[in-house]
Amino acid sequence: MFTRLKQSLVVWLIKKVQKYGPRKVLISGRVYEISEDVFNPKFYFTSRFMAEHISVTPEDNVLDMGTGSGIQAVTAGHSGAEVIAVDINPEAVRYAYRNVMANALDDSITVQVGDLFSTLDPQHKFSVILFTPPYLEGTPETLLDKALYDPDKDLLIRFFKEAKEYLRPGGYIQMIYSSIAGNGKAISAAEQSGWNHSIIARAKTLTEEFIIYRLTLG
Ligand SMILES: C[S@@+](CC[C@H](N)C(=O)[O-])C[C@H]1O[C@@H](n2cnc3c(N)ncnc32)[C@H](O)[C@@H]1O
Repeated sequence: MFTRLKQSLVVWLIKKVQKYGPRKVLISGRVYEISEDVFNPKFYFTSRFMAEHISVTPEDNVLDMGTGSGIQAVTAGHSGAEVIAVDINPEAVRYAYRNVMANALDDSITVQVGDLFSTLDPQHKFSVILFTPPYLEGTPETLLDKALYDPDKDLLIRFFKEAKEYLRPGGYIQMIYSSIAGNGKAISAAEQSGWNHSIIARAKTLTEEFIIYRLTLG
C-alpha cells in the first residue's frame, strides 16, 4: 500500500517535470537536450547516479540499453569506449543522437531504435552492458510511459535472458534498480537466468533506495 503510494508520487513528479521542466539540462558539466517524451536525466536520481559509476576504458565495447537522452552512452563515449545505444522510443533515439553529435562522439557512438536486443547482431559481443530500466508497475500507453513502467518485470526478465548472448567472456552488466520496485525480486529474476551479482554502489533518497549492480555469468 505504502509502496503503491510512493510509486504514484514518483510518477506524478516525473510527469510534471517532463511536461513543465526545461528542455536542456546540465549534468556533470555536459548539456543534454530532451523533449517531453524523452526521460529527463536531470530530475530523477537514477541517470546521474548511474553515469557517475560508469568505469570503462577505450578497450571496452559498450551497449547502452534504453539510452533515453543518451547520458550513459555519452559518458562511456567520453572515456574512449565504442558504444551502441538502443531505445524503443524513436524520439529518444533522435535526441540521443543529437546529444552524441553535440559531444562530437558520432565516430564512436551509434544510436538505434530497437526492442531490447532485437536489432543487434548476436555475433557482436559487448564487454559492458549498461541498463537503467523502467521499473514501476503500470501499463505503458505513451512513449514516455515506456521509460517508467515494466509491468510484472516482463522487460527485465526478457533482458536477463537475452543479454547472455551478447556479452563477451569476462564482461558484465551494470544495472540500477530501486527499492520501490523490489531489488530482491529483480535479483531473483537475474539469478533465475544464471546471473551472479555484486553491488557497485547504493544511495537513499526521499522516496527510495537505489542500488547499482554488477551482474556476471558463470
Ligand atoms: C528509465 S529510462 C532511462 C534512460 C537513460 N538511460 C537514463 O539513464 O536517463 C528507460 C529507457 O528505456 C527505454 N526502453 C523501455 N523499453 C525498452 C525496450 N523494450 N527496448 C529498448 N529500450 C526500452 C525507454 O524508452 C527509456 O528511454
